[in-house]
Amino acid sequence: MLLRNGTVVSGTGCVRQDIRIGGGRIVQTGPGLEPLEGEEVMDVSGCLVAPGGIDAHTHFDMPCGGIMTSDDFESGTRAAVAGGTTTVIDFSEPEQGASLQSGLDRWHEKADGRSFTDYSFHMTVARYDQGIEEEILSMIRQGVTSFKAYTAYKGDLGVEDRDMYRLLSLMKKHGVLLMVHCENGDILDVRREELAAGHPADISLHPLSRPNEVEHEAVSRMIDMARLLAVPVYIVHTSTRQALKEIEEAKEEGVRVYCETCPQYLFLSEEKYRLPGFEGAKYVCSPPLRSSRDQEALWRGLKQGIVDTVSTDHCSFNYKGQKDLGRVDFRLIPGGLPGVENRLELMYSQAESHGLTYSGIARMTAENPAKIFGLYPRKGVIQPGSDADLVVIRPDSSHVIDAGTQRQYVDYNPYQGMVVSHKVRHVFLRGQKIIEDGAFKTDIPAGNYLLRNTLVR
Ligand code: URP
Ligand code: ZN
Ligand code: ZN
Repeated sequence: MLLRNGTVVSGTGCVRQDIRIGGGRIVQTGPGLEPLEGEEVMDVSGCLVAPGGIDAHTHFDMPCGGIMTSDDFESGTRAAVAGGTTTVIDFSEPEQGASLQSGLDRWHEKADGRSFTDYSFHMTVARYDQGIEEEILSMIRQGVTSFKAYTAYKGDLGVEDRDMYRLLSLMKKHGVLLMVHCENGDILDVRREELAAGHPADISLHPLSRPNEVEHEAVSRMIDMARLLAVPVYIVHTSTRQALKEIEEAKEEGVRVYCETCPQYLFLSEEKYRLPGFEGAKYVCSPPLRSSRDQEALWRGLKQGIVDTVSTDHCSFNYKGQKDLGRVDFRLIPGGLPGVENRLELMYSQAESHGLTYSGIARMTAENPAKIFGLYPRKGVIQPGSDADLVVIRPDSSHVIDAGTQRQYVDYNPYQGMVVSHKVRHVFLRGQKIIEDGAFKTDIPAGNYLLRNTLVR
């Protein structure tokens, strides 16, 4: 297969080039490649050809307080690939107190044979005990090289500082990465209780219960631990200007802190919590949506390379029947937003108006996640030898985001009505055409489980 006349986007620039694909890999790139005898040729003039997206933060088929996220691996990865994402890294989560292996087994049951993208797993760690090192080593042997811990959700997933420090130390010893959900769990628990005592149904209290300071404090604490131990740390879903500043300064000092943000913190803001009726519930997530000042800071962070990755934290709950559970008490609204289908179109469409290049978007949505999470250069880059995971995007193809036509299995879209200029046209997974002219070419989930490497120390 020869893709001709496209603008090939890489982390370093955009070049008019042709791409030859064979055996699931990229075989050759260069200008003016001539078709071989019998070779299929696809003309992609006027289109960008970017590395297939890597969404390193999804929650498919995840239990949450007695319910499950509305997207499972089949619907979630179907949506992902329709939106140009060819690899997802989902969070496997053992039940409380259970072994990491039980979580991994469960996530393989959920994903194997059902995924339309290639996939891998991070492992949530909510305990520290004598056996944990052996369990982490076993995870590494099974391709899991990143782990997630929460400073929030005390009494459930939350990890106390002493154990967080010990976990970080183990990460260093074995060359793997700790990802941290940073919010001060004690402070937010108290604030939630106090605020809900007055007007429990008032959704506008949600952001007040988890204010900027709560995130900033926890980010700063994690950076200090990482500095003390000289170990990398990955901050998930960064949402505030204060946390970003902390990360910027730490990076300048040479601390290896990776910064992720998500489309919801770039495109949506806290006014959503003041929408009439129960509408605001659609936007309840943790951390909450923030102010326009925070948004501006995050866009600046993207431009200056302080933000390393844009993943979605796709965690979908239906408005009717799920978000609904919190009608009388905002604390019971299941937290999380969908977006796996929309990430690339949103980011490529908004690049120019925010002073970003296509190349910068390719870095944050594919190349950097591949490098950080042990998938590079197999994934995240268009070069000979890499998997032929490609997304062909047509610019100047204005359309409106609409829940009525989306593939994500959820009854609303937080970006409803937004106009995006760039449209995903074709998607290849390891050379196989999955999407052609916006339509699925196959009904068979062809995604493979990806064993990931440990990190460069
Ligand atoms: O509200 C959110 N973000 N839910 C998903 C779980 C998490 O904290 O990342
Ligand atoms: Zn989180
Ligand atoms: Zn998450």
